[in-house]
Amino acid sequence: KIVPVIMAGGKGTRLWPLSRASAPKQFIQFIGDKTLFQSTLARVSDPELYEAPIVLTNEEFRFLVAEQARELGLKLAAVLLEPVARNTAAAVAAAATLVTELFGKDATMHVLGSDYEIDANATYYDCVRTARDTALEGKLVTFGIAPTEPATGYGYIESGKALSTGAHAVKRFVEKPALEKAEAMIASGGFYWNSGMFMFSAGQLLSEMHEYAPDVEKAASKAVSKATRDLDFTRLDAEAFVKSPDISIDYALMEKTANAAVVPSPFTWSDLGSWDSVWKVGKRDDNGNVAAGDTTLVNTKNSLVMTHGVHLAVQGMEDVAVIASEDAVYVGQLKDSQEVGKLVKLLASQK
Ligand code: GDD
Ligand code: MG
Repeated sequence: KIVPVIMAGGKGTRLWPLSRASAPKQFIQFIGDKTLFQSTLARVSDPELYEAPIVLTNEEFRFLVAEQARELGLKLAAVLLEPVARNTAAAVAAAATLVTELFGKDATMHVLGSDYEIDANATYYDCVRTARDTALEGKLVTFGIAPTEPATGYGYIESGKALSTGAHAVKRFVEKPALEKAEAMIASGGFYWNSGMFMFSAGQLLSEMHEYAPDVEKAASKAVSKATRDLDFTRLDAEAFVKSPDISIDYALMEKTANAAVVPSPFTWSDLGSWDSVWKVGKRDDNGNVAAGDTTLVNTKNSLVMTHGVHLAVQGMEDVAVIASEDAVYVGQLKDSQEVGKLVKLLASQK
């Protein structure tokens, strides 16, 4: 069976003010009746295919993780707590070390982010099985999404020769390219977006981390071997874990390995990283508006209006995001959605 590993320690600053330092986007309800973290859990809950999941998060979010799993009636195999955020390379290396301890080095891990929505239909599970079969051949497997625009917030995967499992070898992996580079890759064809999910054996991951990111691998495995456990939580050793470089798995490993594969993935995948993507994914009315919560819209078009508290009335606006939480309001052009993270940095510096 596959061991699911869910990364749920990101900050999600571009979705301020609904995504907050105390409860980042993966833990809040945007659209639908589950949080993104809960939809991710639900996707790996088939006991025929999966073991109970391992969740990786920051110390601060431990109760959100436990409570939201409990709401779904799901049991977690482990909640690994990071004393400081050291990004996804260290998180994945720590998970692989734990998986090796619990299930052995040949166990297959399915690593999932918790900040995108997937339509988990039969096509999706076909891709998961193809990825598993490819991981069993010693590959580091990615899921390739057909790109629709030269977005700069994603990894780009150049597909190479076909493998026997139905996956393809990866010629090149480029994380978050500059716009011109993204445009060139889209124009040349043969590229996918990286979905943010991976499949590999724990042993393969650790040996490649050892080769390409030895400081990460060393810090993470030491942090696991010196971890302390209480009932529900496994706390990574702080002194060891802080020594890891702060780097994502995409830069640390996927750009470097010669051993990556991609499963062409025709299922519906939507990243919910910023307000414009929430607007794109949301249910639009006849005026192109996406509204959630207690709202009144007059003479307003192609806008996103969400409130988790006060009644929000918007008049005579176009192409904007108006977002209210209990104690803060954001108003901005949807086209500036990528800049919200910078605004949040400014806010933090003014405190
Ligand atoms: N546990 C833990 N610890 N989780 C983390 C940490 C950390 O330090 N940092 C980020 N995460 C979680 C986030 O919550 C998210 O679910 C996932 O890991 C990915 O992190 P992001 O910071 O959102 O990455 P990204 O969106 O910039 O890029 C990644 O995802 C894209 C698709 O959404 C890359 O893999 C790209 O290549 C990919 O296209
Ligand atoms: Mg993301």
